[in-house]
Amino acid sequence: MKVNNTSFNIENIDEIVTLNGWVAKKRDLGGVIFIDLRDRSGIIQLVVNPQSPAYKLALSLKSEYVIEVTGKITKRQNVNEHLQTGAIEVVVDQIQILNECAEIPFELDKTTALEETRLKYRYLDLRRDQLKSNLIMKHKIMQSARNYLNKAEFIELETPILGLSTPEGARDYLVPSRVNEGRFYALPQSPQLFKQLLMVSGFEKYYQIARCFRDEDLRADRQPEFTQIDLEMSFVNEEDIMTLTEEMLKKIFKDTKGIDVPTPFIRMTYKESMDNYGSDKPDTRFELKIKDITKVFSKTDFSIFKEVIDNKGIINCLVVKNAAENYSRKDIEKLQEYVKTYRAKALAFLKYNEEFTGSIAKFVTPEIAQALKETLNLENNDLILIVAGDKKIVKTSLGALRLKLGKELNLISQDKYNFLWVTDFPMFEYSEEEKRYLACHHPFTAPADINTLADKEGALARAYDVVLNGYEIGGGSIRIHRPDVQEKVLAALGFPKERAEKEFGFLLKALTLGAPPHGGLALGLERLTMIICGTDNIRDVIAFPKTTSASCLMTEAPGIVSKNQLEELHIALK
Ligand code: AMO
Repeated sequence: MKVNNTSFNIENIDEIVTLNGWVAKKRDLGGVIFIDLRDRSGIIQLVVNPQSPAYKLALSLKSEYVIEVTGKITKRQNVNEHLQTGAIEVVVDQIQILNECAEIPFELDKTTALEETRLKYRYLDLRRDQLKSNLIMKHKIMQSARNYLNKAEFIELETPILGLSTPEGARDYLVPSRVNEGRFYALPQSPQLFKQLLMVSGFEKYYQIARCFRDEDLRADRQPEFTQIDLEMSFVNEEDIMTLTEEMLKKIFKDTKGIDVPTPFIRMTYKESMDNYGSDKPDTRFELKIKDITKVFSKTDFSIFKEVIDNKGIINCLVVKNAAENYSRKDIEKLQEYVKTYRAKALAFLKYNEEFTGSIAKFVTPEIAQALKETLNLENNDLILIVAGDKKIVKTSLGALRLKLGKELNLISQDKYNFLWVTDFPMFEYSEEEKRYLACHHPFTAPADINTLADKEGALARAYDVVLNGYEIGGGSIRIHRPDVQEKVLAALGFPKERAEKEFGFLLKALTLGAPPHGGLALGLERLTMIICGTDNIRDVIAFPKTTSASCLMTEAPGIVSKNQLEELHIALK
């Protein structure tokens, strides 16, 4: 069995060793050949002297050849502080080429190659230290979570991949059934319904490192297939699940980064989060909160603001400290273009320097000036960026602008891990696309108060998300365990009884057969790994990821299938 090349050190001097690996680099220094031999664990330096029987073969070695060498460990004259094995080298007297390597399509030690090329030859890209260490980190995170949950007496159980569609809010990936003509399986968007049924079975504490599939628009932190650290428990309340999750995350950070994460995490209601940060996953590593100045302008003559207030809209702003001087009208126009992509109509601005200048300065009466100074605690050189309009648009556009400015102005401390819980989520969320209310979390989430379901905007759910540095790294809820409550919620979501029966009949039935109170949560493994590895690209933590158009550049999946295959599946293409 091969040992790690980096397991040797100064204590192994004079030992004869046999090593395997790849030629990472070869240098010919006046006769003596130096080779960096790479294996999974890192690099060790080989030296081949002209007198060595292996010298001739060493001359023919090229980058990424796979070799086996035998030689003696010796002390290195110039210690390389950057290498774990930097104090030693192996003086080689035997080399065997186990495999040659054709011309490499891109230089491994440079990251300038196009991502497309690197994805096409992903197996080569994975030889790079950075990606390799990301995947090893992901492995450690999974092991740490498993160890924690095993110790807490959870049972790891698998649930089907070929199942029925579960409504997590995205489109399903469908798999046609050959044996059942015209019928389709859906790949799980999450194991949600099955884990609830396992509670009905009496397993009490379940977990699974579960693959999930969602056909949705991809972003830098989303992939069509991803992994959840998924758990469910019976006879619990929100506190039990939150405490367990905090303890598990604490262990993961201790095991992988040696960091002591302070617990309990801060809690913030959904309303507070939206009001102050314009997002349900606030990045609290920097301030720059959204301020409400609707009242300040309640008696304004400015027709646009007046109309907004008359239509029950709001006027909110960000105060960028000490920035007025640095932002020209042109710079602010660029910010305006940015907020417009979030459907804001415009971005008004004021600069404060004893008096107000800026796009709406002429509407700042002495009373308004006084109120602005007091409400916003203004100091000279403050820049005020204002959006007015519909509440949701104002909050989300300023929330996005806040993040942009946070990055642009270097307000975010990179070495911070700010965990928090967002609680008291709304039960329902209006979908502009579907022109109806959908479940904000999922339709199996318990309402905070069953008597408030008619109030679609006001009803709250027993749901919670765990947020880290502006990423939603997990979410969960207390579930409905009573059939009458489940039926009411489905009815409130516009599921007629027959449709509910057809789609979730098995769940509704199970709830009548002794379902215990239960709840759970799922962490997004890739998002957690991204943050721990310090990357903002989810592809950096997945061995074989998809592109934003959901394809694999290496295998060229999704592929075309033969006519025969389609016929067997009773499918005709349009
Ligand atoms: P939810 O849909 O919030 O909850 O998902 C849980 C967590 O999974 C991660 N996640 C993703 N990661 C990468 N790519 C994606 N496309 C993607 N979608 C989600 C996020 C998210 O917080 N069944 C419920 C959990 C429960 O209630 O127990 C669920 O799936 O980090």
